[in-house]
Amino acid sequence: MVKRHIYIIACGGTIAGAAGTADDLTGYTAGAVAVEDLIAAVPQLSETAFIEGEQFCSIDSSDMTEELWLRLAQRVQTIADIDDIDGIVITHGTDTMEETAYFLSLTVHTEIPVILTGAMRPATAISADGPLNLLEAVQTAAWPESSRYGVLIAMNGTLQAPRFVEKTDTTHVDTFRSRQMGCLGFIQDGRPWFYQMPVQLYNQTSCFSCAGLKELPKVGIVYGYVGMDGAVLDAMAAAGARAVVVAGLGHGRMPAAIWKKAQQLMERGIYIIRASRVLGGIVTAVPEYDGTICANTLTPQKAKILMQLILLRTQDKREIQDFFQLY
Ligand code: SIN
Repeated sequence: MVKRHIYIIACGGTIAGAAGTADDLTGYTAGAVAVEDLIAAVPQLSETAFIEGEQFCSIDSSDMTEELWLRLAQRVQTIADIDDIDGIVITHGTDTMEETAYFLSLTVHTEIPVILTGAMRPATAISADGPLNLLEAVQTAAWPESSRYGVLIAMNGTLQAPRFVEKTDTTHVDTFRSRQMGCLGFIQDGRPWFYQMPVQLYNQTSCFSCAGLKELPKVGIVYGYVGMDGAVLDAMAAAGARAVVVAGLGHGRMPAAIWKKAQQLMERGIYIIRASRVLGGIVTAVPEYDGTICANTLTPQKAKILMQLILLRTQDKREIQDFFQLY
């Protein structure tokens, strides 16, 4: 295969984490290792592709912000638009990787592969998973067919779609799963193998863009539980939220007192989005929650991202609901 040109954008995370001892798998500093050293630690990268690296930020991904997302999406778009770049790999902390990946899958328009990867064990660990994840991400980015799938997460030998993937284990390397839908494919013998494709819109077919944007509309999330306090909804309204995603009970339900509060917010023009704290299934419209928007199968954190982008395009409830069917 012709050697391709892969651009690595490093954002920190455990893949760049450093601990005092090789057996310390939790008490490390994320984002401590520079992109040059990540690349130098995997000599096989340069056998696979021409590699260029850039340190975009060096953070624990818990510190990812919407402002950084906007800058990252704009940067990825700029790099993707350079003629001789064939693929992009983004190294990123795993804690918010699924959110960043979903945001990029909605806002970057490119026909080259954009692959996110990271690690569950720091670079200093015995059996660190970062080097192989990085190599497999580069192998995927260098494989032309990968571009058909838009932004992907490559972790632990699997390829996952941002729309469906979730971090499912706090510490194990086999953490990224797309629960009911399954992964899109695997990486083996130096190349990706694909088996299915999402039908939702992403990347080239997405209508969203964040070109020139400095901030996103404010959308909050509240979590449903027994004894849930409606004060959090008031607090979100006071903080200027344009919409609130309720990670509801079961099929996006909420205690009666919370529903009453939610209706008061809707009367003030704040959208209420019904998602679920349940780990699978769809949230659909029911007469009881008339006036709300349904998150479909999106997790609350991804429903929030989609709603932020939708609010840049429409305020119409029917159109908003249609977007939740399409994306
Ligand atoms: C982070 O998300 O930056 C820390 C955890 C990880 O990368 O696994």
